[in-house]
Amino acid sequence: MKRVKIAEILSQPQIGQEILVKGWVRAFRSNRFIQLNDGSTINTLQAVVDFENFDEAVLKKITTAAAVGLKGTLIESQGSGQAVELQVSEIEIIGEANPDDVQKTVMQPKKHSLEFLREQAHLRFRTNTFGAVFRIRHAVAFAIHNYFNEKGFFYLHTPIITGSDAEGAGEMFRVTNLDPINPPLNEDGTVNFKEDFFGKAVNLTVSGQLEAELAALALGQVYTFGPTFRAENSNTSRHLAEFWMIEPEVAFNDLLDNMNLTEDFLKYICQYIMTNCADDLKFLNDREVQEQASKPQNERNELSLIERLQFVVNNEFKRLTYTEAIDVLKNSNHYKKKKFKFDVSWGIDLQSEHERYLVEKEFKCPVILTNYPAEIKAFYMRQNDDGKTVAAMDVLFPGIGEIVGGSQREERLDILKKKCADFHIPEEELWWYLDTRKFGTVPHAGFGLGFERMVMFVTGMSNIRDVIPFPRTPQNAEF
Ligand code: 4AD
Ligand code: MG
Repeated sequence: MKRVKIAEILSQPQIGQEILVKGWVRAFRSNRFIQLNDGSTINTLQAVVDFENFDEAVLKKITTAAAVGLKGTLIESQGSGQAVELQVSEIEIIGEANPDDVQKTVMQPKKHSLEFLREQAHLRFRTNTFGAVFRIRHAVAFAIHNYFNEKGFFYLHTPIITGSDAEGAGEMFRVTNLDPINPPLNEDGTVNFKEDFFGKAVNLTVSGQLEAELAALALGQVYTFGPTFRAENSNTSRHLAEFWMIEPEVAFNDLLDNMNLTEDFLKYICQYIMTNCADDLKFLNDREVQEQASKPQNERNELSLIERLQFVVNNEFKRLTYTEAIDVLKNSNHYKKKKFKFDVSWGIDLQSEHERYLVEKEFKCPVILTNYPAEIKAFYMRQNDDGKTVAAMDVLFPGIGEIVGGSQREERLDILKKKCADFHIPEEELWWYLDTRKFGTVPHAGFGLGFERMVMFVTGMSNIRDVIPFPRTPQNAEF
């Protein structure tokens, strides 16, 4: 008999049908009611067992977390709480679970802290919360590919091992197969990477953008979606050492086109999740409402998770320049009352407290900040006519802070060469990038969306470690 998924059974119940389901027991009450989950949906199927018909030995093995196969007839439910239930005729115990061991895990059906769940990242998939998060994570990825495919972008795979530091922040993980104890040395005592595997020093990529630009200048519109690595030693709830980034790049786009694309794209993802992940979203929404109830009034979210997604879809993002944002911050009561930890003046790199003030207190909506000082942004951003700022753009989201970073790119060879010099980037390292500015160079623009930060936003999870299956953070690479 063909196995049927619980998602399918519950969405199109065929009363009277003989079916086979396989999954994990969430609960077994009164030696009669099994709650079965198979991962296809957050919902469980209720299966009813007439214990007189089965061996005591078999029934004893139907314990929380055990895997079972159940054959039976789908009937209208006799009890309230569910529309249908399975009248069980055959039970197969597929994988037993010792109740004493289950007691010590996150599978024990009670409320666990997210920290405890993180320690058992290999088992947390079995919980409702993480089932919902990872089904939604999948849907976000799918929505992203869908969006770009519909718009005629090409998915480009950029290298994971690379010699360049696109962002210039120097936060890279070295990739080498030299003997760490006895590496070949230059005369000055430094390691001789000419003898390394690739004949040069290489690292894990911090961004696929530079390569995406090369392709965009031929294919027109491309996007990357790949793993990204940053050795930033920041142990925050928003940083990972290994995360996923989506980087679209479009020839002939300027900064305004770039902002419009970003806004449309982020709205599409939010709408897609509301349309396609209703059950999981409702679960996470209610979970958050419960959690909020235990917090003091002034720390609670003004909008629920679903309301926040609706808000993003239905409202225009606030757009202003960096210079205007600095004025807003300086004129705020928050600033005057010295409530910011970090000072505010033109030229500073905005701290997360500044970004969150703008989004959560001042404008109460997503914000796109543009035209940042050249010194605090990467070398490739297009220089504005004022000579001081570049055509950069950051998108700030409530509860998250920076979710997207992007810019129009410097397409003029002479200015780009000068920027390389200013940023101490040897031209011979980037000859291939500079080359594209010699052959039909055109204005172009793109951005990077932090995938996990987007998943945080649509699931309402407040720690980035809880939206990636196996987080990589300083001092932590378990699993
Ligand atoms: O602002 P970033 O550094 O921009 C770039 O890398 C550009 N090359 C993008 C482009 O224009 N093609 O990073 C982009 C986004 C950030 O806004 C943030 O959402 C996410 O990537 N991000 C991180 N997410 C998790 N952990 C980290 N350590 C992150 N660093 C950046
Ligand atoms: Mg950034």
